Amino acid sequence: ALKGVIFDLDGVIADTAIVHHAAWKKLAAEIGLPFDDNVGERLKGVDRRGSLDILLEHAPHAYSEDEKEALAARKNDYYRQQIESFGPQNLLPGARAAVESVRRAGLKTALASASRNAPLLLERLGIADLFDYVVDANHISRAKPDPEIFLAAARGLGLAPGECLGVEDAAAGIASIHSAGMRAVGIGQAQALAGADLLLPDVAAFDISRFTT
Ligand code: G6P
Ligand code: MG
Repeated sequence: ALKGVIFDLDGVIADTAIVHHAAWKKLAAEIGLPFDDNVGERLKGVDRRGSLDILLEHAPHAYSEDEKEALAARKNDYYRQQIESFGPQNLLPGARAAVESVRRAGLKTALASASRNAPLLLERLGIADLFDYVVDANHISRAKPDPEIFLAAARGLGLAPGECLGVEDAAAGIASIHSAGMRAVGIGQAQALAGADLLLPDVAAFDISRFTT
């Protein structure tokens, strides 16, 4: 039986997918690299360094490790500038209600975020108390689509992977959930999330009774 739900943060709970997107787009423009929505979609759920490597795929020359570090840090500065002013108003509509409904149904809740900014975001959004367990990029060594982060979340809840459901807005995240042996709910567009077991347009449409009755 289902005993826990593990939520992604960026693009599922927090309205930050657009902020990450804008920060990468600004960086790409500054260094003269192409950036379209297709690239933007591929960056979703991918960690900072993996995202930079995707961005640099079409770079006309190689970048040194130091240069890559500096570029990733610059993107993070742009992102952080926007997040500084974040508050509960930057929760995606229905996100708090979705997590609360899971708790009310007697299930456990966890967060699995690839972001090193997740602790800051949780504090700003005022939702840290909604989760029984939180795993962010600071605690794991292998990024999504590796299953490590969802497995760590299940372990933190004291549950078997088969007792958990993952909720994700990114293809890399759906792949991570499935490799962990969990069912996946995709939030967003069908073309990007074709592998999801259930596809919803947004987190407001998440209804836990669909899985418990
Ligand atoms: C999330 C976002 C990605 C972001 C990643 C790392 O998965 O969806 O767009 O690249 O976190 O975030 P960070 O805040 O550590 O750069
Ligand atoms: Mg996400």
